[in-house]
Amino acid sequence: MPIKVCAFDAYGTLFDLSSAARIALEDYDKKSGMNISRTVAENWRLKQLQYTWIRAITGEHTDFWNVTCESLDWALEKSNLHNDGQLRSRLLELYKELEVYPEVPEILAKLKELPLPAVILSNGSPAMLQSAIDASGIGDYLEMQLSVEEVGIFKPASRVYELVLKHYNCQAEEVLFVSSNGWDAAAAKGFGFLSAWANRLNDPVDRFPWTPDFILSSLVKIPSLAKKL
Ligand code: LAC
Repeated sequence: MPIKVCAFDAYGTLFDLSSAARIALEDYDKKSGMNISRTVAENWRLKQLQYTWIRAITGEHTDFWNVTCESLDWALEKSNLHNDGQLRSRLLELYKELEVYPEVPEILAKLKELPLPAVILSNGSPAMLQSAIDASGIGDYLEMQLSVEEVGIFKPASRVYELVLKHYNCQAEEVLFVSSNGWDAAAAKGFGFLSAWANRLNDPVDRFPWTPDFILSSLVKIPSLAKKL
């Protein structure tokens, strides 16, 4: 097997981002008959990513927890929920223990059996990643978690993807990188990784100079794919 490591994006790939809003806003959804939780979750994520890109381009780095709080504040204000301090606290607490997608424990167990080291490569700060990993119980399957805090810039800066090469003393083409974020999977391909996009939402392919090597609908086929490489 020429690949040495399988590196996973965290948020949206292993951890289900919509779970915090779904749980915390359940009552609002029921009372209003509308899908407020979905609007908040989508705006929260949209702004969270935009803020990381702008901070990376301008060099104004702050950690992902701050970006997560700032983007939540925007999303709550957009839905006129910004005066509910308890809701804000609850959403942030839930973000620390997001649910994993159902297939995650099994695919990580299969990679361990191969054996192929599985690592996280994420914008998340070390404390955020650790609490989400602990809450979901997937820690035993992960060899390490690499946070952008080690280099002080967000994805898709190449310094972030380089972290895997540094820690595994390997070449880019010996890494299978897996993300549910189309832009992340594309940028990782541009960096030189073998890249798999878990296109959970059946989105169109992003118009970038790079296209992921593999496009899947979830993570289910990652172990069989890794075995073939
Ligand atoms: C991460 C974000 C991009 O985990 O989902 O790095």
